[in-house]
Amino acid sequence: MHAVALKRFPVGVPCAEDFVIVANDVPSGDAGARLRVRYLSLDPYLRGVMSGRHMGHSMALGDVVPGGGVAEVIDSTTPEFVRGEFVQGETGWREEAFLPADRLRKLPPDVPPSTALGVLGMPGLTAFAGVRDILQPREGETVVVSAALGPVGSTAAQLAQRAGARVVGIAGGAKKCAMALKFLGYDACVDYHRDDFGPALQLACPNRIDCYFDNVGGRVLETVLQHLNLRARVVLCGLMDQYNKSERPPGPNLGPVIAARATLTGLVVYDHFARLPAMLDELVPLVRSGRLKYLEDVAYGIQATPDAFARLMRGENIGKAIVAL
Ligand SMILES: NC(=O)c1ccc[n+]([C@@H]2O[C@H](COP(=O)([O-])OP(=O)(O)OC[C@H]3O[C@@H](n4cnc5c(N)ncnc54)[C@H](OP(=O)(O)O)[C@@H]3O)[C@@H](O)[C@H]2O)c1
Repeated sequence: MHAVALKRFPVGVPCAEDFVIVANDVPSGDAGARLRVRYLSLDPYLRGVMSGRHMGHSMALGDVVPGGGVAEVIDSTTPEFVRGEFVQGETGWREEAFLPADRLRKLPPDVPPSTALGVLGMPGLTAFAGVRDILQPREGETVVVSAALGPVGSTAAQLAQRAGARVVGIAGGAKKCAMALKFLGYDACVDYHRDDFGPALQLACPNRIDCYFDNVGGRVLETVLQHLNLRARVVLCGLMDQYNKSERPPGPNLGPVIAARATLTGLVVYDHFARLPAMLDELVPLVRSGRLKYLEDVAYGIQATPDAFARLMRGENIGKAIVAL
């Protein structure tokens, strides 16, 4: 059995050589379950953990990379979890793990287990909190979502659309934009790699922008801010544009925010875990019936994990980045 440890602190975009495959020592303990991990979650926040910039976690060289996983119980010392059952927990990037019962979550029945890491997991909850509790889009409003195909963006977009909003995605490249329209039902999608990104966004949002779910920051955020309506709401959720940078770039010019009397709200999913049951009550039936779509970007085998994480941080993933073990 193997695990993935940090060999050196990444500089810029992480690469496979920043990691090393090590033997997976699995401690055991009381009242918990020994787990065979089936899916690893690759998440952008881990880049911040690796550079010591994350608000909650840090790691040292040689540590196994932390992170969520979906696993099968292979041995249990607690009656709550039985052999053969699938659970979700912070397994880290390892093939086997032991977790105490209070750090395991049962999976909803009749949905693919991997969804517990994306649309029905932490990213889905982030989208739910951002759209339902903060943006609260109304019928006919225009909502813009960046990183449009990822688990946060695609779930946020569909929740906004279900509230009656017109939803415009922002994604990198013509292929991703075509997929956003075809598979995720966006009303429009704009490629931010194009030189005419600003005018193209304006064209896609003829009534300007009422809500923006920002997953990237940087130039994309700055451009969207130019097109806000009066009393627009903006959720600042992620900063893909700067996770790989050693220096924090100079911030966007916030003048348009003032002119639009807009509200910018910082979102941290940790504050919203009490909303998980409400989120699952609503989204599980939608996923089960195919009314809530999601994309997954699957790599195979523990050895493929470092390269799959590098692809995510280069922005080359299409959908929730996971590794099937
Ligand atoms: N605040 C919170 O509590 C919270 C919780 C969960 C996630 N997040 C944040 O939400 C965002 C989306 O997360 P996710 O898991 O759904 O990831 P994701 O969308 O699957 O992957 C990130 C995407 O960001 C896009 N991107 C835009 N600019 C980029 C750049 N300069 N470099 C690399 N990629 C870039 C890429 O797609 P395109 O190039 O096509 O846009 C890439 O596929 C991340 O910023 C994450 O940190 C925040």
